[in-house]
Amino acid sequence: MRRSRFIVVSNRLPYVFKRTARGWRAEAGSGGLVTALLPVLRDRGGTWIGWPGASGAAREFKPALAAAGAKAGYTLVPVPLTEEELGNFYHGFSNEVIWPLFHDLPSFCNFDPQYWRSYRAVNAKYARAVHARASAGDFVWVHDYHLMTLAAELRRLGSRARLAFFLHIPFPAPDIFLKLPWREPLLHALMEFDLLGFQTPRDRRNFVACLQTLEPGVKLEGRGAAVRLGTRAVRIGAFPISIDYNAFLRRAAAVDVAAKARELHRLLPKRKLMLGVDRLDYTKGITLRLKAFETLLERYPDLRGRVSLLQVVVPSREDIAQYGRMKTEIEQLAGRINGAFARPGGWVPVWYEYRSLSRLELLAYYRAADIALITPLKDGMNLVAKEYCACSIEEDCVLILSEFAGAAAQLSGGALLVNPFDVEAVAEAIRDAVLMPEAERLARMRRLRRAVRRQDVFWWVDCFLRAAVARDLRSFAPARRAGEASAAPAALPL
Ligand code: ADP
Ligand code: G6P
Repeated sequence: MRRSRFIVVSNRLPYVFKRTARGWRAEAGSGGLVTALLPVLRDRGGTWIGWPGASGAAREFKPALAAAGAKAGYTLVPVPLTEEELGNFYHGFSNEVIWPLFHDLPSFCNFDPQYWRSYRAVNAKYARAVHARASAGDFVWVHDYHLMTLAAELRRLGSRARLAFFLHIPFPAPDIFLKLPWREPLLHALMEFDLLGFQTPRDRRNFVACLQTLEPGVKLEGRGAAVRLGTRAVRIGAFPISIDYNAFLRRAAAVDVAAKARELHRLLPKRKLMLGVDRLDYTKGITLRLKAFETLLERYPDLRGRVSLLQVVVPSREDIAQYGRMKTEIEQLAGRINGAFARPGGWVPVWYEYRSLSRLELLAYYRAADIALITPLKDGMNLVAKEYCACSIEEDCVLILSEFAGAAAQLSGGALLVNPFDVEAVAEAIRDAVLMPEAERLARMRRLRRAVRRQDVFWWVDCFLRAAVARDLRSFAPARRAGEASAAPAALPL
């Protein structure tokens, strides 16, 4: 019998192809989806289908693509997008409708009907690319909010592959979701997958609640492991995504990383180093974070000079107006804080970097940071939080984490959880972190690292695939408690 193929589909491939004077070059993509899936594909092999991040003709960068795939150990299949598709599908429906809506920010949405039409058309385009490679019984794993109508398009083409979906971002509660003008067709399209995976039990519950609101005939089966609508039964579960813990640990322990981390402390001596690392995104709570730091310095003059915030912002989605406005706001705030508190020739409160760090720099920043300040207003998971724990080899440091990050469910045992909208409470948490006794720092970070090590990205992929292939629905009844997944790992026939 032919072994079934493992095909991953996401809007983006893990590399962005850029034209240089010496031809096309593959650069690593950023974002949680790529970080999580790279080790999975490297481990299992298979095919990854997605947009190569360049709008040139696919044949131009085909050699660079094939070389990147050969080096990585799996096949990369490009789906080129035109400028019009990028405008209406990627920037438009994906990032001006679904992204803000699913992060509870409906006022940021632009419900342009043309965006929806383009979204359907581009999903159909991806479906044709998948259908050309996936036979009956192959396992097609679709990722994230750009491709929620892909299964419906594949069914239209007559695909008999097994179709699973994982949503990397949160799923909103009904009062938010119902604002979407295309709420019914979107939910019906999702119901064409065989398995739907969410980050947390709350996201799964929200999905079920939306379905029940719009389709009163929907029924739960197998203690909530599946939803039935008419003749279709779809498996649903919560599977908290993670990182390749051991790979981060190994790399962070390398001498070049340690040397760079020491250099950072030499440059910024005699103070606690507090780190923020985020893609430029209004969901990450960077401006409120800066205001919380400002509040700390106003309230506690004795802490001035004793703590610096190193805020790294990775360029992202710059063509969308909200992102540009946010960048200006961050720069103004950082300037205001430094203008008010910096000391000539000495301490500077905010070190702001707007650039993409190399792997070495990122890991050195993680290792050097005494405190990580991760305060998204809402986040599907937040892998930066988990990476920080994995890289904190000395364990003598503190994680301050938003209670609205998906990761809070698993990391509540060791992190200082904060409401990112409450700037005074965040300021207090920073003070607690700065003044925390060593024994407590060590104990908390040890708990955090154990949690990330036990539930790494390979645990996540096993849980998901087991839910996809389980014969008995009862074997993966939904996780009800934070930090649980819907299925325990087991040997897989895939
Ligand atoms: P999001 O997916 O919303 O960007 P996450 O925190 O889940 O948020 O994931 C961000 C990912 O981007 C992390 O895995 C992090 O290591 C990665 N990253 C951060 N900075 C860079 C960078 N300069 N270059 C490439 N990847 C980066
Ligand atoms: C988040 C999304 C991913 C996306 C990433 C980077 O992690 O969940 O799907 O790839 O952000 O965003 P970008 O728009 O550059 O792909």
